[in-house]
Amino acid sequence: MEPIYLDYNATTPLLPEVVEAMLPFLREHFGNPSSGHVFGRRAKEAVARAREQVAELLGCDADEVLFTSGGTESNNLAIFGLTRDRAAGAIVTSVIEHPATSGPVGALEGHGSRVERLGVDPRGVVRLPANVPQGALVTVMHSNNETGVLQPIGELATLAHRAGGLAHTDASQSVGKVPVDVRALDVDALTVCGHKLYAPKGVGALYVRRGLDLRPFMLGASHERGLRPGTENVASIVGLGVAAELASKTLDDEARRVSTLRDALREALSAGIPGLVVNGDGAPRLPNTLSVRLPRVVGSAVLAAAPAIAASTGSACHDGHEIASAVILAMGVAPDDATGTVRLSLGRLTTAQDVSRAAEALTAGWRALTSRG
Ligand SMILES: Cc1ncc(COP(=O)(O)O)c(C=O)c1O
Repeated sequence: MEPIYLDYNATTPLLPEVVEAMLPFLREHFGNPSSGHVFGRRAKEAVARAREQVAELLGCDADEVLFTSGGTESNNLAIFGLTRDRAAGAIVTSVIEHPATSGPVGALEGHGSRVERLGVDPRGVVRLPANVPQGALVTVMHSNNETGVLQPIGELATLAHRAGGLAHTDASQSVGKVPVDVRALDVDALTVCGHKLYAPKGVGALYVRRGLDLRPFMLGASHERGLRPGTENVASIVGLGVAAELASKTLDDEARRVSTLRDALREALSAGIPGLVVNGDGAPRLPNTLSVRLPRVVGSAVLAAAPAIAASTGSACHDGHEIASAVILAMGVAPDDATGTVRLSLGRLTTAQDVSRAAEALTAGWRALTSRG
């Protein structure tokens, strides 16, 4: 039997409607959107439609959406594209960013940018700075991929703008799970990752506020207004558009359904595993994410002892030693406790039966490890 998939924050399956919408663009509608003939026009219209669908989900206009290859590229485009001429300028980010943000920020730091990394409180919420350096780019994630903790992006954007700077947020984990409205957040740029919202891998989007001076970091032809050259990944873009439309329609109901399941999972695990702690407890969190610390074990060992579920740990294994997740450590958790973290992330295909089976499997795995003394 297939394990129960509880790793939706790693990636999601394609929804059937997404596959159906994509298929014609993998078969007969193979035209290049830049071509002037009917094949090209069909592809161009499909990309335009997808742009509207993504814009609708984000609460912006279609001409403010650029298609990219995913979350990593969107972050790189925003961070390099908004700092190009300000290499010696300041960047404000956090200590819990995904490598897709900390990578480009680190590279700019190496070239002379001044970088301030905001810490988090014990719940995993980024601490707001008293102020932001003049003209800084503030880039902080909308929600954390490990804990699901939602971050104060609106407040950070206000601080950035007050200092004459710009605000970008990596909303890879949030879009499709919680309402994300770029106008309400008042951000200048926002990252969308297709494969976290039931669209294919290798496609994403970047919202860029109209009129912003974003510089491309890849040079080529005039695709995506010259900001992201390269022939469009038409079928995947169509898939992203349909996934965005489905998310717009079902987000509230699905968030309610999945958070009920998530809470039931937490209760069942707490009942079977004394001393279990929820990372980010008490903070506003994504409805699908349950990051738990299991006492006296390492996360990878528990998952190995519970093959009936497919989930992930925040930690990494180096030379046989478990290295705790930097995100959990930043919350002030002791390294030995942090390595007991398991991330369970639910999604559209998760059922109540999955939740009870997963709780049983994880509890049995934990008991098997801890009863050995
Ligand atoms: C918060 C966050 N940002 C960026 C990414 C990278 O997205 P992609 O895999 O589309 O490059 C991920 C994916 O794991 C993520 O969780």
